[in-house]
Amino acid sequence: MNNQDGSLNPLSEPGNLPESEMVVKLKKRDWALSAFSEATAALARAESLDLLIKEVCSAIATQGPYILAWVGKAENDLNKTIRVLGGAGSAIDYVDNIAVSWSETNITGNGPAGSCIRENKPIVVIDSELDDGFVAWRELARKYSIRSAIGCPIQGVDQPFGCLLVYSKLPNAFGLEEVVLFQSLAKEIGFGLQSIDRQHILDDQIHKKEIAQEQLSDALKAIIEAMARTMEWRDPYTAGHQKRVALIATAIARKLGWNNEPVQALYMAAMVHDIGKVAVPSEILTKPTRLSDLEMKMVQEHAETGYQILKDIPFPWPIAEWVRQHHERLDGSGYPWGLKGDQICLEARILAVADTIEAMATHRPYRAARGLITAMQEIRSEAGLLLDPQVVDAAFQLMDAEGTLEQLIASK
Ligand SMILES: [Fe+2]
Repeated sequence: MNNQDGSLNPLSEPGNLPESEMVVKLKKRDWALSAFSEATAALARAESLDLLIKEVCSAIATQGPYILAWVGKAENDLNKTIRVLGGAGSAIDYVDNIAVSWSETNITGNGPAGSCIRENKPIVVIDSELDDGFVAWRELARKYSIRSAIGCPIQGVDQPFGCLLVYSKLPNAFGLEEVVLFQSLAKEIGFGLQSIDRQHILDDQIHKKEIAQEQLSDALKAIIEAMARTMEWRDPYTAGHQKRVALIATAIARKLGWNNEPVQALYMAAMVHDIGKVAVPSEILTKPTRLSDLEMKMVQEHAETGYQILKDIPFPWPIAEWVRQHHERLDGSGYPWGLKGDQICLEARILAVADTIEAMATHRPYRAARGLITAMQEIRSEAGLLLDPQVVDAAFQLMDAEGTLEQLIASK
């Protein structure tokens, strides 16, 4: 039944066997079936190439007479080396001491490993003592009690990946049924490796995308801050105003239990909430005396102008709308629309409280700073009338939190 090279032609096994041979055949099949089922279970669990190989080989090499299983990778180097990726079994040291290749012209390429890759079919060594193709490893195999072996090719996406080698301490351990089982297992290993590869590529792409998104988000934040600074050059009295409002607003949002993403969105809106003031003449913005009705109307236009400036920027959040509403008040006395209660979005209600605190607590061209205490008294008196009472409560919690609000007001 052997081929010329001493390896088995798996399709030539006799059909009618005496009873004792039948028992051996059934035993061999049971060992192979156990190895197959244990190894496929291990395949399903494996999350990395190393783990896959280790677990599959361990599953095989603990069954019946199998004393070694290893997986090799067919390298495309000059010598067509087969690199051992991992293995398991009592004869594992054998693998460390052998040189194998899939080169046709090298003796190291004529064993079951090299031949199965080259010929893309299972190769069986029925008896290592007799197989001519195994002569290069015979001596060493004897030392590790190896008597028979099978090499099955593992396919890559469009080229051979490598091979699965299984060794037995018994001669003739790999009959037709065992060959079919180990061949199927090698195919499954190939699919498993490809799926891990795909997962790694996918993970890599996701990671790169996350980095790009982070960079974009940082860039957006930096642009927003640059816009805020540009605007404030025209109006030194309110320099830092937007930044402080942003810090207070986000601290309030956190007190309200918001998570990071909406907090960051609110930060950006706060950083440009007065951007519409670019359209207001700077002599009006910095006028130390009371504004005329017309001048006041021009200043109030900044909410709508801010919306017009921001509305076409594709922010992931409706920042332009929040900016437009930051002077709206609960009782409808605000501008530009005179919205009431819940008609005003929560983000704008937070901006309103933060803006009021900051404006009152700090210096203005037309009046000195009134201080934080006065500002907090003011927002308390306006809670439920002009300002959202829950937002005001959150601001007071900040006040109680070891001077958090004082620090935010003092920041430049
Ligand atoms: Fe404003």
